[in-house]
Amino acid sequence: MAATGTKKWWKNAIVYQIYPRSFCDSNGDGIGDIPGIISKLNYLKNLGVDAIWLSPIFPSPGYDNGYDISDYMGVNPEFGTMEDMERLISRAKRIGIKIIMDLVISHTSDEHEWFKKALEGDPKYRNYYVFRDNKNNWASFFGKSTWTKTQAGDYYLHLFSEKQPDLNWQNPDVYNEMVKIMRFWLDKGISGFRLDGVNTLYKDSLENGRRRLVLTGRENYLNTEGGHNLLRRFNRDVWSKYKTFIVGETVFISPNEAKLLCDEGRNELDAIFFFDHMHVDSRGVKWVKKQYRPQRLIRILDKWQNALEYPANYLENHDRVRSVNHYGNISEFWGKSAKLLCGLNLSLKGIPFIFEGEEIGMTNGDFRGLRDIKDIESFNANQFMKRLFLTHKLRRKLILRTSRDNARTPVQWDSTENAGFTTGTPWLKINSNSSYINVETEQDDEDSILNFYKKMIEFRKSSKALSEGTYRKIASPSDVFIYTRECREERLYIYCNMTSSNRAVEFYGDRIVFGNYYSEEQEYTYLKPYEFRIVASNI
Ligand code: NOJ
Ligand code: CA
Repeated sequence: MAATGTKKWWKNAIVYQIYPRSFCDSNGDGIGDIPGIISKLNYLKNLGVDAIWLSPIFPSPGYDNGYDISDYMGVNPEFGTMEDMERLISRAKRIGIKIIMDLVISHTSDEHEWFKKALEGDPKYRNYYVFRDNKNNWASFFGKSTWTKTQAGDYYLHLFSEKQPDLNWQNPDVYNEMVKIMRFWLDKGISGFRLDGVNTLYKDSLENGRRRLVLTGRENYLNTEGGHNLLRRFNRDVWSKYKTFIVGETVFISPNEAKLLCDEGRNELDAIFFFDHMHVDSRGVKWVKKQYRPQRLIRILDKWQNALEYPANYLENHDRVRSVNHYGNISEFWGKSAKLLCGLNLSLKGIPFIFEGEEIGMTNGDFRGLRDIKDIESFNANQFMKRLFLTHKLRRKLILRTSRDNARTPVQWDSTENAGFTTGTPWLKINSNSSYINVETEQDDEDSILNFYKKMIEFRKSSKALSEGTYRKIASPSDVFIYTRECREERLYIYCNMTSSNRAVEFYGDRIVFGNYYSEEQEYTYLKPYEFRIVASNI
C-alpha cells in the first residue's frame, strides 16, 4: 500500500505495549498467548488506545523471553499459531487498532538456523555473524564479555547474552534477509515495528574500547554513520512503501543523536525511546540506587520535550520497574500518584506509550526471594555480584528492587486466585495485591485508576492542544512540573505535583478542566499531594 500525503496516523496515536507472556493465558499453561490477547481486544478498544506494540511473538528458545529469535517468519507455539496471529491482526483492524511488532534485528538466537549453519562452518552464514580469532575488551549489556568461544576455538560477538549472537550488518545479505522479513509481516497487515537496540547495529570497528563502568567498547558501534545509512535504506526500500510507524529503542542516546535519527527530512526513524528518565535514581549502573528526586525527572523530561518534535513518551516498560514504585507512591498515595503519572504521560508532547497493567496502577512484584525471579539479566547480575563477594542479603535486596521481572508479573484481571490471568500455574508469581488492584474491580469503580486513564485518553483525544500543540515549561517550585500545551485555538496549563506533600504554586489560566482531585477538594493557592490539574485559558 502506498503512503498518501495526509498527516501520518501515528502522530496522534496512543500506544499500548503488550508483553504477551504476561498478558492473558487462554489455555491454562500459565503463559499468556495470542488468543488471550484477542479476548482482550475490546477491553483495549474501550480504554481508547490506537495501537498495540507487541513484544516478540516469534519462535524463540526463550532465554530472553523472545528477544532471542530463532525464526523471524513464524509464531512461537507457546503463544499460538500463524492463524492466531492473522486472526489477531484482522480482528484488531476491524475495531481500528493497529499492531506494531517488536523486531530484534541486532542479534538472533544462537538456535536460529543461520547461526547453526555458521557454526557448522558454512561460509555464507559465518558471514551473517561476527567471528574472530581473538576477543577484544568489550563488555556486554548483561555484564560479561561480548565474546564466547566456539568449539572450533574462535569467538563470536554478542552485545547481550551468549545466546544472542550479533548479526554482521556489514554483510548486504543480512540487510536483504531483514527486508524480506519486514515485508512478510507488513503484507500481513501490521503497521510498523519497534526496533530493538537499533542504534547499535553497525560496528565501525572491533578495536578495544575505552574502559568504562558499563558497556566498554560502545564508541565502536553506537550511532555510527553506517547505522544511519541502514535505517535510511530500510526507510526507502520498505517503510515508505507502507504507512508504517517505526520506533527505535536507542541505548545511551543523547538529544542530538536522537534528532538525527528522527528528523523527518532525513527519513530514518519516526520516533525513539530514550532512557535518561529511567536512570534518574541510579548511580551509573542500574542496580545501585541513589535517592529519587522529582526535580531531576522534570529536568530530563523537559530536555527531551524540547529536543524532539514527537518524543516517544513512556514511564515504564517490560525492562523497567513499575512507574508507581519508581516515581510515585505505593502506600497512602498509590491511587493519586498513579493518576498523576497517567496525566503526565498523556499530556506531554509526543506519542504516549502505556505498558500493560500501568492503567490499573500495577506495582512491582512482591517476590519472596531470588528463587522467584526468572529473568536472564537478573540471573547474570546475581552471578556477577557473587564474583564480587556480595552477601546473599545484599544481592537479594539489589536484585529484587530492580529486576525486570517487576514489570513482567501477570496482568491482574480480577480478584480470583490467579487474577484471571490463567487457570493453571502462572509462569511468574502474581502479586498478592491482585485482590484489589485488578481490572474487574476498577472497572466498577468510578474513581479508579483505570477509569481515570479512560477519561484522560478521551480528554487528550478531544484536545487539539494536547494532541498537536506546542510544549513550554513554566518556572515552578522544585518538584512541581508546570507546562503549557498550546495551539491556535487552545492554551492549557498542566500542573503536576510530583511529591507527597502540598506545594504552593502560582496558578495561571481560567478554568480547571481536568484533575485527579474532586473540584470541592481543589485549592487555589497550592497543589495537594501528587495533584494533577489541567487549567484552560481563555485566549
Ligand atoms: C531490549 C529489550 O527490550 C530487552 O528486553 C532485551 O533483553 C534486549 N533488548 C536484548 O534484545
Ligand atoms: Ca497459554
